[in-house]
Amino acid sequence: MKVLVIGGGAREHALCRSLSLDPDVSALYCAPGNAGIAEVAELRPVDALDGDAVAALATELGADLVVVGPEAPLVAGVGDAVRAAGIPVFGPSADAAQLEGSKAFAKDVMAAAGVPTARSYVCTTPEEVDAALDAFGAPYVVKDDGLAAGKGVVVTEDRAAARDHTLACDRVVIEEYLDGPEVSLFAITDGVTVLPLQPAQDFKRALDGDEGPNTGGMGAYSPLPWADPKLVDEVMASVLQPTVDELRHRGTPFSGLLYAGLAITSRGVRVIEFNARFGDPETQVVLARLRTPLAGVLLNAARGTLDAQPPLTWRDDAAVTVVIASHNYPETPRTGDPIEGLAEVAAEDGPDVYVLHAGTRREGDAVVSAGGRVLSVTATGSDLAQAREKAYKAVARIRLDGSQHRTDIAAKAAEGR
Ligand code: AMP
Ligand code: GLY
Repeated sequence: MKVLVIGGGAREHALCRSLSLDPDVSALYCAPGNAGIAEVAELRPVDALDGDAVAALATELGADLVVVGPEAPLVAGVGDAVRAAGIPVFGPSADAAQLEGSKAFAKDVMAAAGVPTARSYVCTTPEEVDAALDAFGAPYVVKDDGLAAGKGVVVTEDRAAARDHTLACDRVVIEEYLDGPEVSLFAITDGVTVLPLQPAQDFKRALDGDEGPNTGGMGAYSPLPWADPKLVDEVMASVLQPTVDELRHRGTPFSGLLYAGLAITSRGVRVIEFNARFGDPETQVVLARLRTPLAGVLLNAARGTLDAQPPLTWRDDAAVTVVIASHNYPETPRTGDPIEGLAEVAAEDGPDVYVLHAGTRREGDAVVSAGGRVLSVTATGSDLAQAREKAYKAVARIRLDGSQHRTDIAAKAAEGR
């Protein structure tokens, strides 16, 4: 099977790594990719937001499957363009990707499907904003309705800051604050059948102790030893299957990866957000634990034959990933700094430790930073404590001027808290 992956972050590196280890994959391409992905896939330049260009590339390569990694191409209809060219795509149509592209749309789907989520108001005027802020009180949760690359949500005790954020957006969703730990649960679906993956936890804030601004995610781990073993079944029944059924009944079936961001509150599980693609960095730890070869699962979802997919199997190992971000991430990340130590990790740390690239590119013989999140250092071990130790040992070998990382990824969970 020839597979083309669209995107160029650590999530796509994790996808390409798994696909490159799959004996059914005879050729693997990634467009546009990055310096790390180039080691496991053949890179092709493409404008990932241009559906016709992606479809033409997939046709030229004779791809049997196209996997669209990030949300922006999905919302832009890249999946539709490739499907129209007769090539199976893992990733939803533009219409179904509105589940991530519009928070108001997601709220509407959840209301219709009876999916538990925070109570909310969609506001377009200052009067509506004030009424909604008053209705819920602090802490205030204000969300830009549209895609905002992880910067659309403000959670604050400060009413003025909450109000300021609404001024930056055309339409906002203001909602009740949800307390309790967050879980990311992914499901692969063909629009009918839903196959949940293993849950993971992401660390969204920039600094240790969940301080600092929201980011795309600074690290993740899986499994979650503290979670109720019935969590996946419960979320399947109350969230994932009803959402997939609702979108099918609306005539816009969702196929691809349905990402449920959940809060485990004292009153039960609530959806914080949906995404229409694999999460980053959670994918790095989920795929590290998946034993079933990936390509066949994604192809079954793309073709609508997920009912024929044998049950997924998982390693007993735990996985931890730690993101190394550039100087000044998430505000104005500095790029172009050389990255050193990658060869040492590859040579010294064994096959259970590997560095997935996010924002990197090659400059002559050097690999340099090219984005806010630069690397995702991933390790597996017999338990979270061991995986954590291995990941941080590798992080310590990597040198990137001015870089930052959290030191507490999976720390509480590894200590049984
Ligand atoms: P989102 O982009 O919707 O994932 O929001 C980013 C982050 O904001 C989430 O991961 C949460 O940490 C936080 N957040 C979003 N909605 C809520 C909410 N209703 N209550 C508390 N925190 C929230
Ligand atoms: N890790 C959060 C996201 O992928 O949206």
